[in-house]
Amino acid sequence: MTERPDPHEHLRSRIAAATRATSPAELHAIQLVPPKNRAHGDASFGAFALAKLRGLAPPQLAAEIAAGVAPDDVIESVTATGPFVNARFRRSALARHVVLGALRGDPPFGPAPASGKSIVIDFSSPNIAKPFHMGHLRSTVIGAAIGRIWRHLGATVHGINHLGDWGMPFAKMMTAWMRWGDPQELQKAPMRHMFELYKLYTAKAKDDPALDAEAAKHFQALESGADNEERRMWKFLRDESLAAFQGPYDRLGVAFDHVTGESFFEDKMEAAMARVTAAGVLEVDDGAEVVKLDAQGIKVPCILRKSDGTTLYHTRDLAAAFWREAQYRPDRILYVVGAEQKLHFDQLKAVLARMKEPLADRIEHVPFGLILAKNEETGKWEKFASRGGNAIFLDEVLDEAVANVRRVITEKNPGLAGADRVAEQVGVSAIVFNDLKNSRIKDVKFDWEQMLNFDGETGPYVQFAAARLSGILRKSDVALDAGAELGATLDWNLLADAEEVLLTMLDFGTTLERAADQSEPSIVTGFTIQLAGSIHAYLRDHHVLRAEPAVRDARLALVAAARRLLHVGLGLLGVGAPDEM
Ligand code: ARG
Repeated sequence: MTERPDPHEHLRSRIAAATRATSPAELHAIQLVPPKNRAHGDASFGAFALAKLRGLAPPQLAAEIAAGVAPDDVIESVTATGPFVNARFRRSALARHVVLGALRGDPPFGPAPASGKSIVIDFSSPNIAKPFHMGHLRSTVIGAAIGRIWRHLGATVHGINHLGDWGMPFAKMMTAWMRWGDPQELQKAPMRHMFELYKLYTAKAKDDPALDAEAAKHFQALESGADNEERRMWKFLRDESLAAFQGPYDRLGVAFDHVTGESFFEDKMEAAMARVTAAGVLEVDDGAEVVKLDAQGIKVPCILRKSDGTTLYHTRDLAAAFWREAQYRPDRILYVVGAEQKLHFDQLKAVLARMKEPLADRIEHVPFGLILAKNEETGKWEKFASRGGNAIFLDEVLDEAVANVRRVITEKNPGLAGADRVAEQVGVSAIVFNDLKNSRIKDVKFDWEQMLNFDGETGPYVQFAAARLSGILRKSDVALDAGAELGATLDWNLLADAEEVLLTMLDFGTTLERAADQSEPSIVTGFTIQLAGSIHAYLRDHHVLRAEPAVRDARLALVAAARRLLHVGLGLLGVGAPDEM
């Protein structure tokens, strides 16, 4: 037995030994789940799959396991309830495992060694020359969190910003600029001016089809590869936009491994088209080149080249998929893009499937819901961007959150040192946390009061729990960054009364695996809320600093370990945790 066995791993190997399970299929069938009712035990094993492999009735196998796994240093008791085996761990072994593990940063509490997995995440990906809007905020925070979780689990992650910097949407911007642009305004506030131009274009293009025709011409000129006015404009708008996006990215603590937007594939689309042709699935339809997808159950064909010879969003996504396959050998390519683009990704996948490309199975659209804001007049929740018909600039939203938090601090903790820094951290985090709180497919209600509530299931609530733990450590002689030495001479039995906290912490590994598997950061968010709740509850009933020395030491180690793990969990979500707030 190792010095500090993982209770779950230990139980699995004891079950394997008791059932003489050796084949991969049998071992795979030994999966633990949290018991439906904690009174039944700490971990539960449903004997169904293994019983099936053995041709036994599940209750019979469960009973055999319960009889065959005798208590040891880690396992206190094993019982069978129908087809389920329920185990209870010794409190000392449980406490030792999670507290030392968290303090040392051993996996899963700290990062795992390289797993050999390669995960590509296409996220954020705003369109240039337009403000960074709320939908891109969601993609940015969800994608970044998924990336951090996979990295923590040992995967090689390629986070890609697939900027919308090519094609018709961009050509429309360019048209607007060429017609109505004002160099002085652009100088003053580039993104704002471009947004005004964009609104103007949208309004005028409604009754003036000549505008779209003009945009198509500009795009053709850009895509011709010539060194012309279009290309200079493109470069200029791209540089300005990238500089403008960097502000929010820095504040959100988000970085990319590759910024390869649509324009990056300008010279890679021909090869992609050749591959589609070679696969024999490209057809000419009304002058355009398309792949029909009826057999895949998709009525709308995928257009890869227009009759004027220009390429499309799909053409670039196809070239990008091939590029990513060749460069990164990905196990999965995740596209964190709003649910409204479902058809686009269904088509992309279907084209690859028709081409019999194995890549088709690796492509996954990771959709998410809208951000809604309350219409003050009607009281209804509406799409955020439509508020008053005005654009919402992400930076302004972040500023508003920070100002709100600053006000709360002035009220509640006027003497706080570094109050501006804390307000920035807590304000930005509140928005991120609010976004990652519910399963991503749900719409997010943007409700200041709710989001900044220190008692709700919010970022500030979890941050406050972490700050409270920091406060306890500050008042003791334990350094905030103390490590495993804290647990060197403890009597682990003294933490038996903290089983809620310990069992919550024990679930961290499976929490991360589920979150990665389902591309669902909300599972990690839920974990941090639960850990914050259980440690708050524990501290309500148990003194730390005033306990007698041996108990005090054990509880301080628990406090330090829980604080560490809250920081790890919040960090994976992209949320910082101040030591005081
Ligand atoms: N630029 C697109 C938009 O703003 C999102 C791009 C998503 N990624 C992709 N590979 N298609 O809607």
